[in-house]
Amino acid sequence: MKTIVKAAIQVRRNAHAPYSNYTVGAAVETDDGNIVTGCNVESSSYGLTICAERAAICSAVAKGYRNFKRLAISSKGSGGPCGACRQFIWDLCGDIPIIIIGEDGSTEELQSGNLLPRAFDDRSLT
Ligand code: THU
Repeated sequence: MKTIVKAAIQVRRNAHAPYSNYTVGAAVETDDGNIVTGCNVESSSYGLTICAERAAICSAVAKGYRNFKRLAISSKGSGGPCGACRQFIWDLCGDIPIIIIGEDGSTEELQSGNLLPRAFDDRSLT
Protein backbone atom coordinates (compact mmCIF):
# COMPACT_ATOMS: atom_id res chain seq x y z
CA MET A 1 0.00 0.00 0.00
CA LYS A 2 2.73 2.42 1.04
CA THR A 3 4.70 1.86 -2.17
CA ILE A 4 1.88 2.55 -4.62
CA VAL A 5 0.78 5.62 -2.62
CA LYS A 6 4.31 6.99 -2.54
CA ALA A 7 4.74 6.38 -6.26
CA ALA A 8 1.55 8.30 -7.12
CA ILE A 9 2.55 11.23 -4.89
CA GLN A 10 6.05 11.32 -6.34
CA VAL A 11 5.12 11.19 -10.02
CA ARG A 12 2.62 14.01 -9.51
CA ARG A 13 5.64 16.33 -9.35
CA ASN A 14 6.27 15.60 -13.03
CA ALA A 15 2.80 16.69 -14.12
CA HIS A 16 2.70 19.18 -17.00
CA ALA A 17 -0.30 21.32 -16.11
CA PRO A 18 0.45 24.95 -17.12
CA TYR A 19 -3.19 25.65 -18.08
CA SER A 20 -5.17 24.24 -15.17
CA ASN A 21 -2.39 24.18 -12.58
CA TYR A 22 -4.12 21.02 -11.36
CA THR A 23 -1.49 18.33 -11.05
CA VAL A 24 -2.31 14.64 -10.84
CA GLY A 25 -0.15 11.57 -10.25
CA ALA A 26 -1.29 7.99 -10.73
CA ALA A 27 0.28 4.61 -10.11
CA VAL A 28 -0.97 1.21 -11.16
CA GLU A 29 0.17 -2.08 -9.62
CA THR A 30 0.56 -5.06 -11.91
CA ASP A 31 -0.41 -8.61 -10.93
CA ASP A 32 3.26 -9.45 -10.36
CA GLY A 33 3.75 -6.48 -8.03
CA ASN A 34 5.39 -3.94 -10.34
CA ILE A 35 4.33 -0.33 -10.11
CA VAL A 36 3.98 1.86 -13.19
CA THR A 37 3.26 5.57 -12.94
CA GLY A 38 1.83 8.42 -14.98
CA CYS A 39 0.98 12.11 -14.61
CA ASN A 40 -1.32 14.49 -16.44
CA VAL A 41 0.17 16.15 -19.51
CA GLU A 42 -1.73 19.15 -20.83
CA SER A 43 -1.77 20.56 -24.35
CA SER A 44 -2.34 24.14 -25.53
CA SER A 45 -5.17 22.49 -27.48
CA TYR A 46 -6.86 21.65 -24.16
CA GLY A 47 -8.85 18.65 -25.34
CA LEU A 48 -5.68 16.75 -26.17
CA THR A 49 -4.70 16.62 -22.51
CA ILE A 50 -3.88 13.19 -21.14
CA CYS A 51 -5.02 12.35 -17.61
CA ALA A 52 -2.62 10.77 -15.13
CA GLU A 53 -4.63 7.56 -14.80
CA ARG A 54 -4.66 6.88 -18.54
CA ALA A 55 -0.98 7.85 -18.82
CA ALA A 56 -0.11 5.28 -16.13
CA ILE A 57 -2.22 2.52 -17.67
CA CYS A 58 -0.88 3.20 -21.19
CA SER A 59 2.68 3.15 -19.91
CA ALA A 60 2.04 -0.18 -18.19
CA VAL A 61 0.48 -1.65 -21.32
CA ALA A 62 3.46 -0.46 -23.38
CA LYS A 63 5.74 -2.28 -20.94
CA GLY A 64 3.78 -5.47 -21.65
CA TYR A 65 1.53 -5.63 -18.58
CA ARG A 66 -2.09 -6.61 -19.01
CA ASN A 67 -3.30 -7.50 -15.50
CA PHE A 68 -3.67 -4.93 -12.76
CA LYS A 69 -4.36 -5.20 -9.04
CA ARG A 70 -5.05 -1.62 -7.99
CA LEU A 71 -4.56 2.00 -8.91
CA ALA A 72 -3.69 5.04 -6.78
CA ILE A 73 -4.35 8.70 -7.58
CA SER A 74 -2.81 11.78 -5.97
CA SER A 75 -4.34 15.22 -6.59
CA LYS A 76 -5.60 18.34 -4.86
CA GLY A 77 -8.89 17.88 -3.01
CA SER A 78 -8.84 14.06 -3.29
CA GLY A 79 -10.20 14.19 -6.84
CA GLY A 80 -11.60 10.96 -8.22
CA PRO A 81 -10.99 9.77 -11.78
CA CYS A 82 -12.88 11.63 -14.54
CA GLY A 83 -15.53 9.85 -16.59
CA ALA A 84 -13.18 8.97 -19.45
CA CYS A 85 -10.67 7.49 -17.00
CA ARG A 86 -13.40 5.47 -15.27
CA GLN A 87 -14.21 3.84 -18.61
CA PHE A 88 -10.52 3.27 -19.35
CA ILE A 89 -9.87 1.79 -15.90
CA TRP A 90 -12.87 -0.52 -16.28
CA ASP A 91 -11.77 -1.68 -19.73
CA LEU A 92 -8.10 -2.26 -18.89
CA CYS A 93 -8.14 -3.08 -15.18
CA GLY A 94 -11.64 -4.44 -14.46
CA ASP A 95 -13.07 -4.27 -10.96
CA ILE A 96 -10.12 -3.13 -8.86
CA PRO A 97 -9.63 -0.92 -5.79
CA ILE A 98 -8.90 2.73 -6.53
CA ILE A 99 -6.92 4.48 -3.80
CA ILE A 100 -7.60 8.21 -3.65
CA ILE A 101 -4.82 10.07 -1.85
CA GLY A 102 -5.48 13.32 -0.04
CA GLU A 103 -3.11 16.26 0.15
CA ASP A 104 -2.23 15.16 3.72
CA GLY A 105 -1.40 11.63 2.58
CA SER A 106 -4.66 10.14 3.87
CA THR A 107 -6.24 7.46 1.68
CA GLU A 108 -9.75 6.49 0.68
CA GLU A 109 -10.51 3.27 -1.20
CA LEU A 110 -13.21 2.97 -3.85
CA GLN A 111 -14.01 0.09 -6.18
CA SER A 112 -13.78 0.81 -9.92
CA GLY A 113 -16.98 -1.15 -10.57
CA ASN A 114 -18.88 1.17 -8.25
CA LEU A 115 -17.56 4.21 -10.12
CA LEU A 116 -19.15 3.12 -13.39
CA PRO A 117 -22.52 1.46 -12.83
CA ARG A 118 -23.94 -0.57 -15.72
CA ALA A 119 -20.69 -0.04 -17.58
CA PHE A 120 -20.30 -0.29 -21.32
CA ASP A 121 -17.51 -2.73 -22.19
CA ASP A 122 -16.35 -5.37 -24.64
CA ARG A 123 -19.27 -7.62 -23.71
CA SER A 124 -21.57 -5.07 -25.28
CA LEU A 125 -19.72 -5.45 -28.59
CA THR A 126 -20.35 -9.18 -29.07
N1 THU B 1 -7.06 15.12 -14.71
C1 THU B 1 -6.43 13.92 -14.53
O1 THU B 1 -5.23 13.79 -14.72
N2 THU B 1 -7.19 12.88 -14.11
C2 THU B 1 -8.53 12.94 -13.87
O2 THU B 1 -9.16 11.91 -13.67
C3 THU B 1 -9.18 14.24 -13.81
C4 THU B 1 -8.48 15.33 -14.52
C5 THU B 1 -6.26 16.25 -15.19
C6 THU B 1 -6.58 16.70 -16.59
C7 THU B 1 -6.16 18.15 -16.56
O3 THU B 1 -4.78 18.21 -16.85
C8 THU B 1 -6.36 18.57 -15.11
O4 THU B 1 -6.48 17.37 -14.36
C9 THU B 1 -7.59 19.43 -14.89
O5 THU B 1 -8.72 18.86 -15.45
